[in-house]
Amino acid sequence: MTDSTTKSQSTAPVAWITGAAAGIGRACAYRLVGEGYRVALTDRDPDRLAETAREIREAGGEVLTTTLDITDAPACDDTVRQIRSAWGRLDTLVANAGVQIGGTLTDTAPEDWQRILEVNLNGTAYCARSALPALLDQDRGSIVFVSSVNALVGTTGMTLYDMSKAAVLGLTRSLAAEYGESGIRVNAVCPGNTLTDFHLDAMAAKGVTAGEIRDMTRGYGLLGRIAEPPEIAAAIAFLAGPDASFVTGQVLAVDGGYSVKGADA
Ligand SMILES: NC(=O)c1ccc[n+]([C@@H]2O[C@H](COP(=O)([O-])OP(=O)(O)OC[C@H]3O[C@@H](n4cnc5c(N)ncnc54)[C@H](O)[C@@H]3O)[C@@H](O)[C@H]2O)c1
Repeated sequence: MTDSTTKSQSTAPVAWITGAAAGIGRACAYRLVGEGYRVALTDRDPDRLAETAREIREAGGEVLTTTLDITDAPACDDTVRQIRSAWGRLDTLVANAGVQIGGTLTDTAPEDWQRILEVNLNGTAYCARSALPALLDQDRGSIVFVSSVNALVGTTGMTLYDMSKAAVLGLTRSLAAEYGESGIRVNAVCPGNTLTDFHLDAMAAKGVTAGEIRDMTRGYGLLGRIAEPPEIAAAIAFLAGPDASFVTGQVLAVDGGYSVKGADA
């Protein structure tokens, strides 16, 4: 784990954010630093992670980084060991890293199913399993899982992704029940369509700009537009922090009303 700062004497809370190099994870890092957290940023993409960490340090954040693929369970344990060794505590896990593999049950291969479940479900659970002993040692803490609106509504052509994200909601409720009396809160956000690097990179390859994506997605949900990453990060920060001290086991759709839009809306 890389630490640009000297060993900290700070008592500021510590958040571990996975998939922090880009998109919603990076927005969470900015948001939580703004709320006074120290942030441990992990991602499987070392170059982008280093760039994000540099920007956040320049903005005044106290940052640790390590390259971590969340499907590597022992490496998840190592990450928590490194965080505790550097900062002595862990208060919050934002389990955000995830992948999208399109396709239906019949036009995808079992290897695709295994891959998406390994990242979006198992990898997410590995991170929680690694974080829990640290949270339990402190008798308090929070976990926020990043699921998707696709866990709440049926869509076409996204079966693998939808089932992987729905499973995360089962994990949320189960862990909330298991660890509630130990002071650990566990919640999930279900973002709707959000203008992240995932979309920007894919569309840039086709010569489409961010402004054009916003135009193309006009009419989405009840607000008639897609989300910007900080709007998702704001909901994650609420669930992670003390304002949500009596909120656990919950699933918060942050989808501009997409999941409640009727056919005639
Ligand atoms: N963007 C959307 O419209 C949207 C909507 C609903 C849910 N989500 C969910 O939000 C989360 C973040 O998505 P995003 O749009 O910001 O994506 P993104 O691609 O912009 O960023 C995701 C980051 O996660 C990292 N990552 C992917 N697999 C990893 C792994 N196995 N180990 C470690 N890091 C890994 C990537 O390197 C990347 O930096 C994902 O779980 C995604 O499913 C996104």
